[in-house]
Amino acid sequence: MTILQGDRLVAALRGAFARDVGRIGLLQLAADRIKEAGAPYTSVYLYMLHGEELVLEAFAGRVTDHTRIPVGKGVCGTAVATGRDQNVGDVSTLTNYLACNLETRSELVVLIRRGALILGQIDVDSDVPNPFTPDEEAEVRKVADALAVLL
Ligand code: SME
Repeated sequence: MTILQGDRLVAALRGAFARDVGRIGLLQLAADRIKEAGAPYTSVYLYMLHGEELVLEAFAGRVTDHTRIPVGKGVCGTAVATGRDQNVGDVSTLTNYLACNLETRSELVVLIRRGALILGQIDVDSDVPNPFTPDEEAEVRKVADALAVLL
């Protein structure tokens, strides 16, 4: 059993799309609902790719100073540079890490991609080490894949 019910959130996103809530409305809904799943989800950031920079367009949880992240920097920028999702169980082991606060222990980045094109990413912070199982990650991926179609 996963903590996040990806299918339910995808249904909510489709409903919001039908009501014309717009791009930011969809991103904010995704951030709010993922955070509402509760621990281990602590904070959720929706970074979208604008040229060579990730730009924070919506979030739920702790405020971050990292509103713009160059491709290649930190966990977020590494995901884009490598084209691979990042599931970091212990962020203290990383040298290329952009810390937002001292509480975050782990981080999951799932890319929002439309075919070969990377549109952005869902970045989840957690206060506990290594919480995101492959099944949990798959639930976040359902949300990312839905956003890729609806945005
Ligand atoms: N920790 C991220 C930066 C984004 S904040 O966690 C919101 C990184 O290393 O890319």
